[in-house]
Amino acid sequence: MSKKLLFIIGTRPELIKVFPIINHLKTIGNTSYKVVSTGQHKDLLESYWRVFNINPDYQLDIIKEGQNLTQLTSRAIIAIDELIGEIKNEFIPEIILAQGDTTTVMAASMVAFYNNIEFAHIEAGLRSFNMHHPFPEEFNRKIAGITAKYHFAPTITSKDNLLRENTSKENIFVVGNTVIDTLNYFIDSKLLEQHKFLNQKLDNINGPTVLITCHRRENHSQINNLIEAVELLSSEYKALNFIWPVHPNPNVKNKVENSILTSKPNVFITAPLEYLDLIKIISISTKIISDSGGIQEEAPTFGVPVLILRETTERPEAVNLGLSKLVGMNKDEIITNFKNFNPKIKVGSSNPYGDGKTSKRIIDILLSSSKNDN
Ligand code: UD1
Ligand code: UDP
Repeated sequence: MSKKLLFIIGTRPELIKVFPIINHLKTIGNTSYKVVSTGQHKDLLESYWRVFNINPDYQLDIIKEGQNLTQLTSRAIIAIDELIGEIKNEFIPEIILAQGDTTTVMAASMVAFYNNIEFAHIEAGLRSFNMHHPFPEEFNRKIAGITAKYHFAPTITSKDNLLRENTSKENIFVVGNTVIDTLNYFIDSKLLEQHKFLNQKLDNINGPTVLITCHRRENHSQINNLIEAVELLSSEYKALNFIWPVHPNPNVKNKVENSILTSKPNVFITAPLEYLDLIKIISISTKIISDSGGIQEEAPTFGVPVLILRETTERPEAVNLGLSKLVGMNKDEIITNFKNFNPKIKVGSSNPYGDGKTSKRIIDILLSSSKNDN
């Protein structure tokens, strides 16, 4: 049975993680879906739509320089709601789908609720149990959890979090994380193996690398600690190449691009990297220093340990297996752990976040369910 699905995508990780679901729909020849780009990451995603071969059917424009979270949220809710009204003669969605915990996702889930449309939450049940870490994502995903009819939990831990919030167990499906489907797609097709760096700065890299990324709002005020730690580490480990693709948020970009790091020969400050450039860097890294959710999930596939620039993580699986470690944003902690945290990870061992078959599971569940279930 075919159902009308509306995917709402706003930011980089959402597109990366929704891609394999849409790809699966293409493979099985299902055409009853449409894709909305809210434009939350208009610049960051420009080239990604092409790489992932997805043309959004509807383009919104919710990002505005300098807007705060309330303004972003209001613009997102209004824009998505207006779109649902405008397209009702051509496409009435039966299920709205969104992935993760961004403002786009929270807004999509609320608009679905107000319009009496079922909402499917992909990557459901992640919780840090701290409303300020990560901020505002813990709030966003809890809202999505209230409005969702379908909770696609990546792991047993995320399922248990939802059960603790009294979510009906019939509506929770442990399916893995689609981020691994995306990774496996590029690994299995040999596209990763054949990939030549698009960013020319990366051509100058000779030898092992350390990837650094940082963008969380609660870390903005402490970026200088990270800059100082990287400065010291790059002086001490001259044979290592430190690659830092900088997030376009001005609170990050301005500090990093105007820092002492730009004068260090083995530190490469770059614009955000294209997906395959980034994955290739992960694959040749000896260590990662990051507050990214997606990178925490991708690293185990390549056996690379992550020093997580956070106090808590809603993705505890890799930490519990000893593959990654929470180090926060304290300069000394970052340096000490960089030196001492050296887990032996077997490359090719299974990734705790998924097995690459998540998208098929999600589509099978959605297409076989009936409106009256639960
Ligand atoms: C957003 C998400 C965060 C997610 C991250 C993934 C929210 C509130 N935050 O954080 O959960 O982990 O994306 O990367 O949903 N900007 C641009 N061009 C872009 C994107 C951003 O210039 O393509 C700049 C703008 O000045 C914008 C600022 O970055 O105002 C912040 O963007 P925003 O989407 O609000 O937050 P992120 O930090 O990107
Ligand atoms: N990523 C990328 N280029 C970069 C940095 C990250 O393609 O320069 C990818 C990364 O591989 C992962 C996703 O973007 O799949 C994570 O996005 P981000 O760290 O912005 O957000 P989070 O996962 O923390 O929400």
